[in-house]
Amino acid sequence: MEITNKQIAEYTESFTSEEPDIIKELVEASDEDLEYIDMLSGRQTGMLLKMLVSISGAKRILEVGTFTGYSAIMMAQALPDGGELITCEMNEHYNRISEPFFLREPYRTKIIQKLGNALEIIPSLDGTFDLIFLDADKVNYPKYYRLAKEKINAGGLIVIDNVLWDGDVLNRKNRKAEAIHEMNEIIRDDKEVEQLMLPLRDGVTIVKALN
Ligand SMILES: C[S@@+](CC[C@H](N)C(=O)[O-])C[C@H]1O[C@@H](n2cnc3c(N)ncnc32)[C@H](O)[C@@H]1O
Repeated sequence: MEITNKQIAEYTESFTSEEPDIIKELVEASDEDLEYIDMLSGRQTGMLLKMLVSISGAKRILEVGTFTGYSAIMMAQALPDGGELITCEMNEHYNRISEPFFLREPYRTKIIQKLGNALEIIPSLDGTFDLIFLDADKVNYPKYYRLAKEKINAGGLIVIDNVLWDGDVLNRKNRKAEAIHEMNEIIRDDKEVEQLMLPLRDGVTIVKALN
């Protein structure tokens, strides 16, 4: 299902800031190496994330699902000096594509790559985060949300991509849509947060931890 009218989607994207050169290079490198690159979050979600980091003043970020680094670079662009972004990816090949970009200045000192299963990595991380971006395997979204709640600071943001799953959350004919809907319900009923679900691209929810 088309979430947003195609022309409106194109129009709103064309009136959103262009990606920085490093992102254009990263998209090109991903496209040359991989058959499909439709997993990367794209201009509007990328810009939303960058703005949320910048507006919230987040200094410590956790990303669940790096792919080739699009959203990690966008968020790291708004991180202040001394800020840190930990990003988890289980696919070694994707990490090899993102690594040379993450090793450039100023990302080298800001982005920390963790290779492995995010469900195991998240509980092993020390400390808490100002912003957590969930974008890995959809069947585990309810688990990721619960893990993120344990790691988010009061006033911090949990941002979740693909919360509409092409509109499939309406009929829930597949496991991914079922799991995403289950998480959407958990968030709706969570009295410890405020949330905003946006029909941006494939759906993005912004959750603010109240305490
Ligand atoms: C939608 S992509 C992430 C897109 C990325 N945030 C971007 O903007 O380019 C989801 C990624 O999560 C990874 N992934 C899936 N399950 C995972 C898990 N359990 N632990 C770590 N990474 C996982 C996939 O390999 C894939 O690269």
